[in-house]
Amino acid sequence: MTARIPPLMERPALKALEAHYQKLRELHLRTLFADDPKRGERMTVEAVGIYFDYSKSRITAETLTLLLQLAQESGLRSRIDAMFRGEKINVTEKRAVLHVALRAPRGQSIVVDGEDVVPQVHTVLDKMADFSTGVRSGKWKGHTGKAIRNIINVGIGGSDLGPVMAYEALRHYSQRDLTLRFVSNIDGTDFAEATRDLDPAETLFIISSKTFTTLETMTNAHTARDWTLKTLKHPAAVARHFVAVSTNAEEVAKFGIDTTNMFEFWDWVGGRYSMDSAIGLSTMIAIGPEHFRAMLDGFHEMDEHFRTAPFERNLPVLMGVLAFWYSTFFGAQTVAVLPYEQYLKRFPAYLQQLTMESNGKHVTLDGIEVTYQTGPIYWGEPGTNGQHSFYQLIHQGTRLIPCDIIAFIQPLNPIGRHHDLLLANVFAQAEALAFGKTSQEVEAEGTPPWLVPHRTFEGNRPSNTIVLDRLTPAALGKLVALYEHSVFTQGTLWNIDSFDQWGVELGKVLAKRTAQELESTDEPHLTHDSSTNALIRRYRRLRNARS
Ligand code: F6P
Repeated sequence: MTARIPPLMERPALKALEAHYQKLRELHLRTLFADDPKRGERMTVEAVGIYFDYSKSRITAETLTLLLQLAQESGLRSRIDAMFRGEKINVTEKRAVLHVALRAPRGQSIVVDGEDVVPQVHTVLDKMADFSTGVRSGKWKGHTGKAIRNIINVGIGGSDLGPVMAYEALRHYSQRDLTLRFVSNIDGTDFAEATRDLDPAETLFIISSKTFTTLETMTNAHTARDWTLKTLKHPAAVARHFVAVSTNAEEVAKFGIDTTNMFEFWDWVGGRYSMDSAIGLSTMIAIGPEHFRAMLDGFHEMDEHFRTAPFERNLPVLMGVLAFWYSTFFGAQTVAVLPYEQYLKRFPAYLQQLTMESNGKHVTLDGIEVTYQTGPIYWGEPGTNGQHSFYQLIHQGTRLIPCDIIAFIQPLNPIGRHHDLLLANVFAQAEALAFGKTSQEVEAEGTPPWLVPHRTFEGNRPSNTIVLDRLTPAALGKLVALYEHSVFTQGTLWNIDSFDQWGVELGKVLAKRTAQELESTDEPHLTHDSSTNALIRRYRRLRNARS
């Protein structure tokens, strides 16, 4: 029997951290670095090809000891083991959480409900590889005999953000004569713009939906079918121009897609943890099965590191406890993710679902209202663009915003001085955030006294610097898994279910009812609040007047 974990606020390490925080809150990174000339080398970990520098964190060795003690007291070790064993740790949905099985090598065994899931994973991967190779080589023909040149992934949330992010991130490795596009929004503009210049005879739709019932995806899928059949005329065209990625064979068949053209995944894969399942089919078509396998191997390397490394050298654990530290003690509301790599431009958007759908929770695993803040808001933009928009607030605003700065040693597109200048900005920003510029330094430059406060940088703004060699498929896998497991670490400390998402349900139900009210020919009897009623009436009146 597992020992009962006390509520967060009653864990001894939490109490010790509260006292410790009072001593440490005013301590400046300038002092911490001055007191320990080796801090910048000591507070780093290098593992699985990632150099993680957390020395510019507002912590001492004691802070870290206490945070890791808290991780122990929170049962992190047994929670990790339970996840990897396939236990149903998603308690509210009574599901195993096994994205780690998606990247397990052939021959490994993970049993869920008496069945080894790893062979199933590889069967689907093999099927994806055959199909991808067929499309990439032009062997898979459309209804008129033309080869497929355009691939449109239709999905939303986890069935879109991962594929979009991975395609952008790995574009360098993609087959350039294929056009990849992504339709997610129910706003018709998304579909219209994605298809306006394409020939249906050369276009393949991948309808990606775990449930195959999501309103946005099903609406876009029907529009895609109409668009295809308008030109190709014959219903048999659907079989050559539509494939599905889903857990729901019944709904796929109902839609009219032959289930032999369906790529399966399972209820133990959460939507936001699914980019390396069959949901990654568009990624595999873009970069090829070998690069896709390399990406999975990168994920797996990080999984093994997370499972086995001692906490003090465990990258996701360190990252997770630091995020927890700023949120719980410094009241930090957000974390900025700043990739200095243009190909990672959609990485922050991807992380928003991963982090916020996972840890945006208000009750513990036992359903008790929490008395502390849970998941912070993740956001960001690639450097250096962010520097010229929101960094002002990070440097001189009144809020504490811990930053994750991500950089690569090797550029994928070496051109002139660009990469040295890019990296110069990485190091300069982390330095400026941490150390700032004192009023004495500003005065010494001859700044008039009235301007000194405006030009003073307080510093003491924490950041992690995460450095990898090169943005390869494997590196992307490692990075994503790093954040996945950091999210799990944070959720474990907060004692919440990081794998359900009940908070998205209410809006879905209300939208269904409201859609009927908007579309009914008779004046509907509205029973919403007065604001919603008035908005619906106004929309109906003005829309009807126009049409
Ligand atoms: O609405 C939230 C959500 O359930 C996400 O968790 C999920 O990734 C997304 O919708 C899409 O769901 P599906 O893949 O079933 O269409």
